Amino acid sequence: MRSDIEWSGARLRSITDIAAGIRLFEIEPSARFVAPAPGSHLKVTVYVDGRPDVRSYSIVGPCADGLYRIAVKRLPDSRGGSLYMWSLEPGANLTISQPANHFELTYGRPDYLLIAGGIGITPIYGMALALSQAKARVRLLYAARTEAELAFAEELRERLGDRLELFLDAEGRRVDLPAEFARLAPGGEVYLCGPIGMLEAAKTAWADSGRPVGGLRFETFGNSGRYATEAFRVRVPRLGLDLLVPENKSMLDALEDAGVAMIHDCRRGECGLCAVDILETEGVVDHRDVFFSDAQKQANAKMCTCVSRVARGGVTIDTADRTAAMPARQAASITAAP
Ligand code: FES
Repeated sequence: MRSDIEWSGARLRSITDIAAGIRLFEIEPSARFVAPAPGSHLKVTVYVDGRPDVRSYSIVGPCADGLYRIAVKRLPDSRGGSLYMWSLEPGANLTISQPANHFELTYGRPDYLLIAGGIGITPIYGMALALSQAKARVRLLYAARTEAELAFAEELRERLGDRLELFLDAEGRRVDLPAEFARLAPGGEVYLCGPIGMLEAAKTAWADSGRPVGGLRFETFGNSGRYATEAFRVRVPRLGLDLLVPENKSMLDALEDAGVAMIHDCRRGECGLCAVDILETEGVVDHRDVFFSDAQKQANAKMCTCVSRVARGGVTIDTADRTAAMPARQAASITAAP
């Protein structure tokens, strides 16, 4: 189920490798171009096992020339979206949404700290350019595994000079979050995009700093968890279902494939619509969403099926729908019914 999104055709203008495992895609919309504000994302229809699906990608930079740019990291445990994007050639036709923004940059703050982990640089890059242009007081901490995996580092260095700091795992450098938050001027804000572990550490350090909750703004990517991605079992006793969620598929997709009419929207762990009740676990639930609070995740009563997974076992759940298990095609027609 998708919310009211305006979709249109587009053409892939060019593809460029910009860092190890990261490709930049320039997309020419056939519909009206809407200038994206920093933090905006674009939804793109991808095909996984021949079936259409939707992925959201942060828009990179200001796109002043009327082209949308997204950067896609090729992930070994991809659910298929990044593999699909990487299979495309220039000239390919795409279906895209208009830009939307759930990670808005507020101007006029006395100080800004931007933090990016890995591919999380994609929304942060545009924020860094915008804040630098606005002559705001801003620093950027950019963490990656290796130098080869850094994207946009040269452009950022040109704009920010020594206000850009790089933290490479390969060199053993880590961001000292409590110390960095302590340096931030009163009223300053932090914008962070990175893996869930980085985000959770930041939320803890921010709470410990005693600063206003709203001063930490964040976005994460739903494919990062505390545990390695692996296959796991899901049981739905009410529907008589017992299924295996493979490594390269989300629990949401696996449930839909089994004929369960699920409700969902963002598929990024943000809206909470896809959440199900956890009845029992035989493993560890790897909560990868940003919808539930830390306390809710610890209570382990619900999980977002679009991004969260289970490590070392399985989970028994109940779903919100009251549709009995049925062949996927039949269930899909019910899902799409008005
Ligand atoms: S669909 Fe939005 S959190 Fe899963």
